[in-house]
Amino acid sequence: MTKVGILTSGGDCPGLNAVIRGAVLKGETVHGQEFVGFLDGWRGLVEGDAVPLDRSSVRGLSNQGGTILGTSRFGPYQTPEGGAQNIARTLDKLGVDAVIAIGGEGTAAASKRLFEEGIRIVGVPKTIDNDLGRTDYCFGFDTAVEIATVAIDRLRTTGNSHKRCMVLEVMGRHAGWIALHSGTAGGAHAILIPEQPESIDQICAWAMSVRDRGRAPMVVVAEGFTLPDMTEAHSHKGLDGFDRPRLGGIAEILAPIIEERTGIETRATVLGHIQRGGVPTAFDRVLATRLGMAVTDLVADEDWGHMVALHGTRIARVGFDEALAHHKLVPQERYQEMRVLFG
Ligand code: F6P
Repeated sequence: MTKVGILTSGGDCPGLNAVIRGAVLKGETVHGQEFVGFLDGWRGLVEGDAVPLDRSSVRGLSNQGGTILGTSRFGPYQTPEGGAQNIARTLDKLGVDAVIAIGGEGTAAASKRLFEEGIRIVGVPKTIDNDLGRTDYCFGFDTAVEIATVAIDRLRTTGNSHKRCMVLEVMGRHAGWIALHSGTAGGAHAILIPEQPESIDQICAWAMSVRDRGRAPMVVVAEGFTLPDMTEAHSHKGLDGFDRPRLGGIAEILAPIIEERTGIETRATVLGHIQRGGVPTAFDRVLATRLGMAVTDLVADEDWGHMVALHGTRIARVGFDEALAHHKLVPQERYQEMRVLFG
């Protein structure tokens, strides 16, 4: 019987538990696989910290946010105890034959290296940012967009009551998918994303034209958007090595500038981790369950070095190398399509 270890790594994401459930249910039933879960991402794998997973441990999981296994941004090559050789020894000791790594770009990169160094590993793509290449959608994205859209709807009524410009910051360090989709769904007057530069003059012009029509401007900005003159003083390296805002996020930088330049009272809201918490939408539960089920087929076929992906409505298989070669940013034409409605 093949014994499979599952881990969840990187930022958590609504739908992770549904993937785990889908994998355990199908793996046990169809392929006769046995499962353990490594705790806190790669740490559990490196330290051999694992718990058994079976039908009963995944019962009722598909609507639960977070991950029952815990997660972290710890990498498998980060400490001397890590690396493929040590991990192979740990897997041997635990009698684990294969690893399913559920995670984003960092996880895919680490999985690719482990695969190249002999570890039998397959993957499931995960990121609320939806920027992982060669999959049409990642689970968690739909939930994040839904939460951000509700936030826009709510900000709109308070903004209209006070005739204020409301600036909502959503997640998206490198890609503006959440901002683009929620801003579109919520009818934002401007959507600002890392991929597309906009000047402060243009942003203020949009806000003023909305005000001149007697409306309250609604601006949605992705956390990774920067103004052309923003300097390093605005960000610092977090303990995990990622760039973090130094003094509030981009919404808090933009709001006072818009207020000063336009004379429109302006407020900033940073949605933050609310986008990553709580129950997944039905779309994300279905996608996550299908991906979890399908990844057990990769294990059964010994299709190491691959991850499952969504192509249209079909679940496909994609090499880690291929997924990593195609970071999925918002294309110019998708942004321009909506930009004609700004202001
Ligand atoms: O990559 C997913 C993501 O949610 C990004 O949108 C965001 O920048 C980041 O994670 C936040 O990470 P953390 O939870 O570690 O602060």
